[in-house]
Amino acid sequence: MALREVLKFPDKRLRTVSRPIAEVTDEIRALADDLLEIMYDEPGIGLAAPQVGEAVRLIVVDTEWTREDTERNPLVLVNPEVHDPEGRIVWTEGCLSVPDCEAEVERAERIRLRAQDLDGNELSIDASDLQAVCFQHEVDHLDGILFIDRISRLKRNLYVQKRKKQLRRELEEAGSATPA
Ligand code: NI
Repeated sequence: MALREVLKFPDKRLRTVSRPIAEVTDEIRALADDLLEIMYDEPGIGLAAPQVGEAVRLIVVDTEWTREDTERNPLVLVNPEVHDPEGRIVWTEGCLSVPDCEAEVERAERIRLRAQDLDGNELSIDASDLQAVCFQHEVDHLDGILFIDRISRLKRNLYVQKRKKQLRRELEEAGSATPA
């Protein structure tokens, strides 16, 4: 069972610009463990700390893992930064914080990700394709940006309307279930 709830659009906390991590404390290690547990549980291929309401620059990513292939190679990345973007690629993205939405997003095809690991070691990862897309998506979360900010205004508005209806329906159902 997930220890923390994944925040869902339009929760305003998803719009926070997260602060850098000056020191990896036990709290940060525990948060990283929780993020990994939630990511594999959902399942997803990446998760950022602000998605569980913690406004710190920490992400976890595992783009090779699938439910069928249980081998896990998680990356826990502290203060990740996207550098040297090259090329363009269009990928169909989704997000655990944006329910019932998938859309094509254009991003850099290749990037270099710089970050630290939990032991303070400097990492430099040359990423392409899905891994590059995932890194860019997760680092966006640290700046309060969602992938639907990068699609056309028309598609975004359609989604926002659909989501509003969905939330209204959930509220009504919750209300009618309450004993009088
Ligand atoms: Ni996301």
